[in-house]
Amino acid sequence: MYGGGYTGEPEKNQPQAQDDPVLLAEFEAKIDRGEKIEPRDWMPADYRKQLIRMIEQHAHSEIIGALPEGTFITRAPGFKRKMALMAKVQDEIGHGQMLYSAAETLGKTREQMFNDLLSGKSKYSNVFNYPAITWADVTVIGFLIDAAAIVNQVINSKGSYGPYCRALERICYEEAFHLKQGHDAFVALAAGSPMQRQMAQESLNRWWEPIMHFFGPSDKMSVHSERLMRWKVKLASNDDMRQQFLNTYVPKIWELGMTLPDPNLKKNAETKQWEFTEPNWDTFFKVINGDGPCNKERLAVRKWAEEKGRWVRQALINPKEKYTLPYA
Ligand code: COA
Repeated sequence: MYGGGYTGEPEKNQPQAQDDPVLLAEFEAKIDRGEKIEPRDWMPADYRKQLIRMIEQHAHSEIIGALPEGTFITRAPGFKRKMALMAKVQDEIGHGQMLYSAAETLGKTREQMFNDLLSGKSKYSNVFNYPAITWADVTVIGFLIDAAAIVNQVINSKGSYGPYCRALERICYEEAFHLKQGHDAFVALAAGSPMQRQMAQESLNRWWEPIMHFFGPSDKMSVHSERLMRWKVKLASNDDMRQQFLNTYVPKIWELGMTLPDPNLKKNAETKQWEFTEPNWDTFFKVINGDGPCNKERLAVRKWAEEKGRWVRQALINPKEKYTLPYA
């Protein structure tokens, strides 16, 4: 039995005003038993809506996230790093495809998702609205942003919605390689000449606040966490994920002799919690709502790709028609 008003026809898949209390109780019991929810199972309309929001946002982050690194493929230092970066960027687009497929199982079409990305209705991760200025920025993205993504994705992969969890398991295997290539490239700079170390340090300084923002607003400001945790879509709060990241990666940065631009950053020996300066959440909300350093540029590239690739999509659907190529 389908839930949340699902008709099997995405365009008619409107949320219901109220969920059947008996079905809702069965659904919640199933989640409490640790069973996965599958696309054809009944689910509350809000569970469906929240998952679409989150998975879609995640998928957009993968394809937009490929852009800052993609521009460095031709400038990566040496053939080995070019090859690795090219493979990584390709993987990220693949992750987007897997996640769009997972979101489609909930009834929203890929076309609707792309339209919502291009119109600015859907969000994507804050971190991809900042420029990669130097090669060191690419190493920090590969090392620390992929590390942050792994913390988040390993946790989310234990969640309650089957298709999302299965996609995340596959994604995490590949992300683990991305992290290794980012770490290797970062260590090469950190162990390099004074100028290379300076590049790495400046990059860390630039990216630290966006990385602290990455896990979402602090728990007291988070809007969706409570419901998502009740339904085991999220298994850790934003603050818990941030703590996990700090615990693993700050020591790795410090052991390379690098610093982080927060004088208050330290682990409290008693509470075992990291203390830090609260990141500027006004900046975060500005960036995720469209007013970051690169939001316009990122969406402009996606719009260009959408327009120039339209004939390919049409030709695949209807190969016998004649098409005007965009460059003809
Ligand atoms: N970038 C952009 N927007 C973010 C964000 C980030 N790093 N973190 C939170 N937000 C947005 C949320 O989408 C929400 O906005 P909305 O209501 O308009 O959708 C708002 O900030 C409040 O945040 P919160 O209530 O805490 O959202 P959440 O419970 O969904 O938690 C995540 C945020 C990122 C932890 C969660 O959505 C998640 O795990 N997403 C999947 C993984 C992902 O997208 N990773 C990014 C790329 S690798």
